[in-house]
Amino acid sequence: MSTPASHPQVHGIFDPATWTVTYVVYEKPGSACAIIDSVLDYDPKSGRTSHASADKVIEFVKANKLQVEWILETHAHADHLTAAPYLKAHLGGKTAIGDHITAVQGVFKDIFNLEPQFKMDGSQFDRLLADGEAFSVGPLTGQVIAVPGHTPACVAYQFGDAVFVGDTLFMPDVGTARCDFPGGDANTLYASVRKLLSLPPQTRLFMCHDYPPNDRPIAFKTTVAEQRAKNIHVHEGISQEQFVRMRTQRDATLEMPVLILPAVQINIRAGAMPPKEANGTAYVKIPLNAL
Ligand SMILES: [Fe+2]
Repeated sequence: MSTPASHPQVHGIFDPATWTVTYVVYEKPGSACAIIDSVLDYDPKSGRTSHASADKVIEFVKANKLQVEWILETHAHADHLTAAPYLKAHLGGKTAIGDHITAVQGVFKDIFNLEPQFKMDGSQFDRLLADGEAFSVGPLTGQVIAVPGHTPACVAYQFGDAVFVGDTLFMPDVGTARCDFPGGDANTLYASVRKLLSLPPQTRLFMCHDYPPNDRPIAFKTTVAEQRAKNIHVHEGISQEQFVRMRTQRDATLEMPVLILPAVQINIRAGAMPPKEANGTAYVKIPLNAL
């Protein structure tokens, strides 16, 4: 029989500007909760940030009288900025990400030639989470599943029968995430996907994004069974070799995400802005011909 701890409630908030889903996972109204993959709105034309997307999360948390214990990231996103500091300031909670974020920080410190004081030890986050590590959200237990491949620091979070897969799988008719960012690897992603798809068939899987083909409405919840049967890139029977060939060819055709440069610079700082310069303004950099 399912109990609240084995079948937690999940609320997804879709951000149409970045195709991202922010999740709130909790036992019941009034209980503790965790927020996964929040979005800080960013206008690349003006360089301005705003909070409409994060405010929807705050509204939901307050309406359900939830206490935020964790503000989690599945990885350092390249397509949106995290709103973790804004949510923490308004709702409390501790920020966390996979412990291999230190490798990602090292790569991008070089690419962006960041200030010498920039730390590559992950200390910008309240906690770094290792593969297999458990943490509690009230009566719920969160379990970390390392799922590298899209980036070396990607993790999924499992709470009972719900798994937040980050950028490993997309909905079955969309497939899988790209593997051509620094530190990405299609062979590694294949192994991570197989790990997720070895969970019980009825496990609920929650996507970090949806890019619906044709006229399909937005969807971001599926199951292990459905992915094994129908995922266009990694359904049952597709070999590692076939997957890697497809993924590599496809990645060669993809443009960089519009927000990758500002997003990475902010997200490896756990959402903090870069240090202000002498005039009181913070800047993000554009490295020329480096990515
Ligand atoms: Fe991503």
